[in-house]
Amino acid sequence: MSLITNIPFLDLATPHVELEQELTTVFHRALRTAGFIGGPMVEEFEKAFADFCETTHSVAVSSGTDALRFALMASGVQQGDVVVTVPHTFIATTEAISQAGALPEFVDIDERTYNIDPEELRDYLENKCRVDESGKLISKRSGRVVTAVVPVHLYGQMADMDPILALAEQYGLIVIEDACQAHGAEYLSRELNRGYGWRKAGSVGRAAAFSFYPGKNLGACGEAGAITTNDGSIAEKVRMLRDHGQAKKYCHDVEGYNGRLDAIQAGILHVKLVHLARWNGQRREHAAHYNRLLANADCGLVQPHEPSWSRGVYHLYVVRSEDRDELMVHLKKAGIGTGIHYPVPLHLQKAYASLKYHPGDFPVAEKISAEIVSLPMFPQLTAEQQTQVVDETVRFNQMFAVKRALNQPVPLEMIARTA
Ligand SMILES: Cc1ncc(COP(=O)(O)O)c(C=O)c1O
Repeated sequence: MSLITNIPFLDLATPHVELEQELTTVFHRALRTAGFIGGPMVEEFEKAFADFCETTHSVAVSSGTDALRFALMASGVQQGDVVVTVPHTFIATTEAISQAGALPEFVDIDERTYNIDPEELRDYLENKCRVDESGKLISKRSGRVVTAVVPVHLYGQMADMDPILALAEQYGLIVIEDACQAHGAEYLSRELNRGYGWRKAGSVGRAAAFSFYPGKNLGACGEAGAITTNDGSIAEKVRMLRDHGQAKKYCHDVEGYNGRLDAIQAGILHVKLVHLARWNGQRREHAAHYNRLLANADCGLVQPHEPSWSRGVYHLYVVRSEDRDELMVHLKKAGIGTGIHYPVPLHLQKAYASLKYHPGDFPVAEKISAEIVSLPMFPQLTAEQQTQVVDETVRFNQMFAVKRALNQPVPLEMIARTA
């Protein structure tokens, strides 16, 4: 008889059941005041989220994609500019760049952190760009002006920001953090001229974008996002962009968007924000426990790497296996949920065929996208569940070793048999 109970990839129900009373109070308040869009509940959340991120401003918007688009536009990215980012991210990163009127260009990621490789950024700026007569940085590939870089803090771990900020300073680039997966992540800045110390995600670049999609470390009960910044003029511009370009009702300084946040979502986020540091702490404990279990297990998986300058919040716990697809089939049969974030790098997506990148252009992103698998990770995950997940990867490895040795397929039912 199987001892395995189903282990979901993500448990979104439990935290909402635990907080049900507080969350329903939010609905009552919105119903009684009929303040459904903007208003005090949004402003209260914005203030609390800015405090959490250690920034002076936070502006709540309708999604992470809008947050990134508005952050780029408000920071000065112009129609036709190039914005540099990574091919290993969710497509919303590049959608926001395109929607801001800019063109995404890519640099490869670091093989251990899966975030932008500062040396690749340096190579791009030094060798794949030129400076024109007027001092503008021009991409040799597109002939366009390069004005911004978007480091993505993927899986809840911040990119190595010191060298990125130094390069951005040297080349006059705007840095916008895609912090959509990194609420509460921290980075140790070792640059004395920027002040040695730990910095929160969202507080390091000119501005940053957060997503509160339900599955995020801080998730709404619907769509939501926010930008953070220490620049009051950027915050002001984002406030206008999210609200049809108006600072005063029916006086439209620019053409904007309908990118506002519902009061109910803001209220829900405010209730959950109180618990975010504890939930992030639980995620870090689970990651440490997975690390210990995997280090002692014969399962051939590459563990996540957390450099000494990083305190990640493990939005995802991502390992690598050369037999990733078969491992996922095995875990699925054993009742264990997994995911791939993300299986096809953006430069090879049909949506970006017009950018004319080719296989081999970003070897690290291509290699790891074929090997990564995200294991169950959420605050309420138990140590027993983690043991079951790792035991199953060991079982899979043993059976797959046999298969490799015999060089013939193992019947699926054998792969899937559980203890
Ligand atoms: C890295 C990254 N960027 C941007 C986004 C966009 O956020 P949203 O889905 O809230 O628009 C997401 C969300 O999935 C994301 O993971």
